[in-house]
Amino acid sequence: MIKLKNQIVTGLDIGSSKICVVIAEVDSDSSEPIIKGYGIVPSKGIKKGLVVDIDNATKAIFNAVNEAEKMAGVSIESCYVGVSGDHIRSMNTRGMMALSRDSRAGLGEARPIEKEDIERVIEHTKAVPFPIDRQILHILPQEFIIDDQAGVKNPLNLSGRRLDAKVHLTSYNTTVLSNLSKCIQNADLEIDGFVLSSLAAAYACLEESEKTMGSVLLDIGSGTIDVIVFYDEGVHHTGVVNMGAGSVTNDIAYMLRVPLEQAESIKREHGFAKVSLTDKEAFFKLDGLGGRTLREISLYDLAEWIEPRVEEILRESFLEAKKADISLTNTLSVVLTGGGALLKGTDELAETIFNTPAKIVAPRGFQEYVTELSNPAFSVAIGLIKYAIAEQINGSARKKSSGGALRKIRGWIKHLTENVM
Ligand SMILES: Nc1ncnc2c1ncn2[C@@H]1O[C@H](COP(=O)(O)OP(=O)(O)OP(=O)(O)O)[C@@H](O)[C@H]1O
Ligand SMILES: [Mg+2]
Repeated sequence: MIKLKNQIVTGLDIGSSKICVVIAEVDSDSSEPIIKGYGIVPSKGIKKGLVVDIDNATKAIFNAVNEAEKMAGVSIESCYVGVSGDHIRSMNTRGMMALSRDSRAGLGEARPIEKEDIERVIEHTKAVPFPIDRQILHILPQEFIIDDQAGVKNPLNLSGRRLDAKVHLTSYNTTVLSNLSKCIQNADLEIDGFVLSSLAAAYACLEESEKTMGSVLLDIGSGTIDVIVFYDEGVHHTGVVNMGAGSVTNDIAYMLRVPLEQAESIKREHGFAKVSLTDKEAFFKLDGLGGRTLREISLYDLAEWIEPRVEEILRESFLEAKKADISLTNTLSVVLTGGGALLKGTDELAETIFNTPAKIVAPRGFQEYVTELSNPAFSVAIGLIKYAIAEQINGSARKKSSGGALRKIRGWIKHLTENVM
């Protein structure tokens, strides 16, 4: 087990509406990362997880990193990056191997399972045909089966004749990620690893009991909804719905004929995802633009426009979650995160659609800037740091600078003086 000592870890979440960078100090002696700084800037050049304008995306990433570095008083060289978009595919697969062989009788004597055996059987789970433009992002073990004993979580040192592994496998489109890599590298950063956004959000939001008893997590962003289904401590489905809470803002802008920025604040202040939660007598005033007279809009009418759209995106998320190889009736809860979860009444609507208790969750389990970052919109950025800690402690990550590691201001001054903008 690797001991982490004052190591700097950075999470970069490139969303459709905002880019968020969080810099944290991690130390194996304290279980929670300590946030040193963060940067949040409006997203540019990114739509639904894809780069649509490389220069604008680079600038936005650069600005967010700069902001976080200034606040943290450190210069970062690399980051973990969240990945989303409907190019993500997933499947559940299996691998199996004989632990010992007898030339006449087939399987031989039972023997203890070693680390290399686990690595090999996991390798076997990848034996599925992939198109040339697709690569594996994660292999997430669900359970191991030793001979006929199912439900083994850690087979190390247990004895058996045959080892099977059941895993959840996710893959990405290589062109999409190479464009994303270009923006990050142009912004002067190396990539420590790509992490599926929903998996990162789960690290920030889910309690152990939710992973064990089963839960569906939805990260409702502006352009996409990232879906992940846990059961029995394993991931049973991941998927991305190509819609998000941004479409609610668009609807409001069209209906009320107001600019998107105004529609956004109307949604936040007066919007409800469920008509039944509104008071028929409640109104808000809308400034008359361009000489038009002041209008009074009823919250009931507003909710009548919002509800069908939120219902549509939640139904799509439900259909995505239902692709899991477990029954959703067995799950404990539906956990809503991402900025879109903040629309009032979204949890109540999700409960009726998923037929399961729903709750809105902000990232947790970190120190410093708790008030500022305890917002569902930052689950992926915080989750990336928590994922990185788990990965590094498990020893699978490449080791990076450790030991007295707060590299004091140097780089950001360099960045500021370079003519990148
Ligand atoms: N207080 C609020 N009330 C209602 N909606 C909100 C609130 N705060 C944020 N949102 C909505 O959340 C969405 C942005 O969420 P988030 O920051 O998680 O998206 P993103 O990560 O940029 O996008 P994506 O994950 O789709 O790429 C926007 O549609 C915004 O309107
Ligand atoms: Mg997001």
